[in-house]
Amino acid sequence: MKTLSDLDLHGQRVLVRVDFNVPMDGDVIADDTRIRAALATVQTIADAGGKAILMSHFGRPKNGPDPKYSLRAAADRLAELIDAPVTFTTAAIGSDELVAEVDAQPNGSVLVLENTRFYPGEEQNDDALARQMAALADIYVNDAFGSAHRAHASTEGVVKHVKVAALGPLMEKEVRSLSALLDSPERPFVGIVGGAKVSDKIGVIENLLARCDAVLIGGAMAYTFLKALGHNVGASKVEDDKLDVAKALYDGAGGKLKLPVDHVVADRFAEDAATQIVDEIPEGWMALDIGPKTVDAYREIVVDAKTVVWNGPMGVFEMKPFARGTMAVAEALVDATKSGAMTVVGGGDSVAAVAEGGYEDALTHVSTGGGAMLEFLEGKTLPGVAALL
Ligand code: 3PG
Repeated sequence: MKTLSDLDLHGQRVLVRVDFNVPMDGDVIADDTRIRAALATVQTIADAGGKAILMSHFGRPKNGPDPKYSLRAAADRLAELIDAPVTFTTAAIGSDELVAEVDAQPNGSVLVLENTRFYPGEEQNDDALARQMAALADIYVNDAFGSAHRAHASTEGVVKHVKVAALGPLMEKEVRSLSALLDSPERPFVGIVGGAKVSDKIGVIENLLARCDAVLIGGAMAYTFLKALGHNVGASKVEDDKLDVAKALYDGAGGKLKLPVDHVVADRFAEDAATQIVDEIPEGWMALDIGPKTVDAYREIVVDAKTVVWNGPMGVFEMKPFARGTMAVAEALVDATKSGAMTVVGGGDSVAAVAEGGYEDALTHVSTGGGAMLEFLEGKTLPGVAALL
């Protein structure tokens, strides 16, 4: 597998697939983690005198170009962060105009292309579009781990048509860190899985149960498990069509699957709702975070672990009264890391909690992958990685 450091980049057109699919708050970037994660790669190309040409998707536009999904804001943010000239272009892939812009691009500079999903051929992995992308490149680099589970023209199809294709440094780090979890974890190995829906994470929970010493469950999905086991869950969010799956997972786990033993419950889904901490959820109340006894129990398991992987919040993290469980898990991971554990976290809310606590550098690896990390942990092959092998 070629990596960026194997290549002479000077004067080369280096087409880099990045994942600049960042969360927005209106027209402001809410979290620029993914842009910052790509900086070292882009800076390396610019410093070596290459012409970095960046492409990414952004959001899920379905009807061609739409200003709401422009990558311009991401390009502007990149320009603020990087030490190289950055130009954003709306010139279309496949147009003479774009070829001319790339020809005129100075060595050591960065050109950001418009959203790849403005082309219907991107998600269809259309060969003609893939060829047009490849025509822009002397070297293609895939550094978009967050999109590696998508077999699209910019992540998969393009590879067939370029002379040289390489893994980017971010992609390499992601694959190395996540492979270490599945291939050779030091024990005890603990998985922590949270979030709203058990249906999104069945494959991950199954695969982790087969490898981990304990899998700790939090978030709304815990209440599908608890209801399946006969507990009263009040007005908590439950996937009623997944009760059988949840019961089967629990029964097959041989005691490894841990569920909350107490809960922060609210009388409605609101930041200013009335709350109480309970072991048994009263009728009409909904659980929105794990309770303090659960925090203590989970913490004890995490700080004793030698390997920890975490994806998904323990509660409604975006509302302050229900953020404690998620923050406590982040803190437990930091302490485990200090004691020598390998700790890996991924997924939007878990990464946001880590960022809010300022813990990014206190963990072994913070993944830029949401869906990609989950599919990797499920044991699936990621087409964006496989194409480069
Ligand atoms: C993500 O945010 O998980 C990736 O950028 C992939 O986005 P997608 O789910 O729209 O393909």
